[in-house]
Amino acid sequence: MEEKRKVIFSGIKPSGDLTLGNYLGAIKNWVKLQEEYECYFCVVDLHAITVQQKPADLRKRTLEILAIYIASGIIPEKNTMFIQSHVPAHSECSWLLTCNSYMGELSRMTQYKDKAKKSGDSISAGLFNYPVLMAADILLYQSDVVPVGIDQVQHLELARDIGERFNKTYSPTFKIPEAYVPKAGAKIMDLQNPEKKMSKSEENPNCYILIMDPPDVIRKKISRAVTDSIGEVRYSDEQPGVKNLMTILGAIKNMTMEEIEEKYKGQGYAQFKKDVGEAIVEELEPVQTKVKELLENKKELEEIYTKGAEKARYVANKTLSKMKRKIGFIQM
Ligand code: TYM
Repeated sequence: MEEKRKVIFSGIKPSGDLTLGNYLGAIKNWVKLQEEYECYFCVVDLHAITVQQKPADLRKRTLEILAIYIASGIIPEKNTMFIQSHVPAHSECSWLLTCNSYMGELSRMTQYKDKAKKSGDSISAGLFNYPVLMAADILLYQSDVVPVGIDQVQHLELARDIGERFNKTYSPTFKIPEAYVPKAGAKIMDLQNPEKKMSKSEENPNCYILIMDPPDVIRKKISRAVTDSIGEVRYSDEQPGVKNLMTILGAIKNMTMEEIEEKYKGQGYAQFKKDVGEAIVEELEPVQTKVKELLENKKELEEIYTKGAEKARYVANKTLSKMKRKIGFIQM
């Protein structure tokens, strides 16, 4: 009999154009993990509307992200790729779990606290509740492993707490998942403020590299990236800008930090920065070409997300029915 493979769930929200952080922290690792696991890769559009989105932009980005998944090497025949809003079980499960979550634990989420500080009273209730929806995404598929960047680890811990609590209250229902944080690239930093995470919501475009940035823009952004006056390529907390560029190079070229230090010993930053820029261009250019091709003929994408949603619905509905039965709802 064929051995049952362990399950992975992960997703990216279409709330802005994807960055090199999303690529190195998430997608590049998914490509590796697909060999070993049964994978669900989702475009989590329900998460994107926690902040207001222009409908046309949301539609465009949702498809573009799916195209990026495929162009980066995720094989449609091997994995389940789908759009979250096509599987209503996510919203339903999220409500059932909301009633098993506490205001206290949600108010302790650092991402929520940061955003609340910036937005004051106008922050949406959806943004407060968002980690519960994320828990629903993961728990519905009985996931074993969830590959994410460092910024999502706290949300994953909450998903585990919520799952464990439900299991305890109603009897075992969910598998409790583990986070998988990549060794290289789990936190790519902002190119202008390397103390901060690289983020698609930053206003100054020099702060981030987009997966779809044209090659010349990528080269320019890296040449403008903040470094320091020390002038040595060293992996040190004193040199956060250089450290970040080394992390990027290492994640793309599969090099250790020692190897990079050795290669650029005594050379200053000019050649190093040039090589970082070229490495990114080499990595992303083929992805960009394939994304453009896929977006020209939407039929293929449509087939992939339709087939993905069918499979996802089947699996998610099984867990959802179990939850409803245990909670005490009358089943039809
Ligand atoms: P999101 O859309 O903000 O980011 C998607 C993935 O990219 C990673 N990431 C980074 N990694 C390294 N460096 C960075 N600068 C960087 N920026 C982003 C994130 O850690 C993430 O892995 N709530 C999630 C989406 C989500 C999800 C899920 C993820 C919804 N449901 C279920 C896993 C499982 C989010 O907002 O990620």
